[in-house]
Amino acid sequence: MTRVGLVGAGGVAQRHARVLSSLPDVQVAAVTDVVPDAAAALAAPLGARVVPDVAALLGEPVDAVYVCVPPFAHGPAEHAVIEAGLPLFVEKPISLDIGAAQEISDAIDERGLLTAVGHHWRYLAVVEQARTLLAGREVRLVTGAWLDKVPPVGWWPLREKSGGPIVEQAAHVLDLARHLAGEVTSVTAAGNGTPPAGDIDGATAAVLRFANGAVGTLAATCVLGWKERAGLEIYADGLAVRVSETGLTVRDADGERTVDSDPETARVAVDRAFIAAVRGEEQDIRVPYAEALRTHTLALAVAASASDGETRDVRP
Ligand SMILES: NC(=O)c1ccc[n+]([C@@H]2O[C@H](COP(=O)([O-])OP(=O)(O)OC[C@H]3O[C@@H](n4cnc5c(N)ncnc54)[C@H](O)[C@@H]3O)[C@@H](O)[C@H]2O)c1
Repeated sequence: MTRVGLVGAGGVAQRHARVLSSLPDVQVAAVTDVVPDAAAALAAPLGARVVPDVAALLGEPVDAVYVCVPPFAHGPAEHAVIEAGLPLFVEKPISLDIGAAQEISDAIDERGLLTAVGHHWRYLAVVEQARTLLAGREVRLVTGAWLDKVPPVGWWPLREKSGGPIVEQAAHVLDLARHLAGEVTSVTAAGNGTPPAGDIDGATAAVLRFANGAVGTLAATCVLGWKERAGLEIYADGLAVRVSETGLTVRDADGERTVDSDPETARVAVDRAFIAAVRGEEQDIRVPYAEALRTHTLALAVAASASDGETRDVRP
């Protein structure tokens, strides 16, 4: 039996708890949240123990810990889990600033710990298919978008709590851009400065330069009452690829093909891969902490550039 501890019991923790409980021989054993009622609500149907804090969680017999707190709350939990030498799953975004994330990354490296971050899009079969199609091709243009509403959590529209829509949400698209088109070397962005709520930009537009010569754009807005779309388009000579959580569309000289995708499969796969690695059964962790740090660096650079209009050099 693999026993998992959860730090944070909100929306995404509930999702991980549901998936983990559906995997064979995995048990959500203990839960902590600064809102004890939230921990209790998650724990009760699973028969998990509710504990007052991370120290108490680490006093339980757990084999791995998920940190599912909002962006502003990262740091103390990760350091405690690292100190305990346990495998660590962290939800994105991994922090609000680069310094805190770099410290966590260094501490992980020092201890040689197993980690994973919730960039589950990398487990989509359609993303693998897009990568195969693009292999050996010269990518020319990348256009990413996250066009959505403000999610219904109080901290989200506050810049100092969430980092804003690029860091909090569009990071999934930036991670996919890196995965499919390679590293970004510089970004220049603009924000429209009019928040739909709180103090975040209602819209952001960015221009990206890639190491391989490709150019790209990222567009984000949170002023809609619904999720319009979130995904990435990639263009190479004679090839157009459109990929998202819900499907892949490919067009080339032979015409257009579409493959549907169920987002749930990747949400299950990311947890299954982490647990398999914890058990030493299989190594298929696609975004360990250090890799997420690279995407986070890029997202922070886009957000910073949107604030002051200055180009940011993000060469690795
Ligand atoms: N990978 C994905 O697809 C995905 C999906 C949803 C959310 N997320 C990410 O997960 C994170 C959390 O999102 P959410 O929707 O669950 O938010 P949420 O507000 O629903 O839940 C966060 C929970 O963390 C608790 N919390 C806050 N500070 C804490 C601390 N120091 N210690 C313990 N608990 C603490 C809160 O009380 C709350 O219950 C966000 O960064 C979000 O971007 C990722």
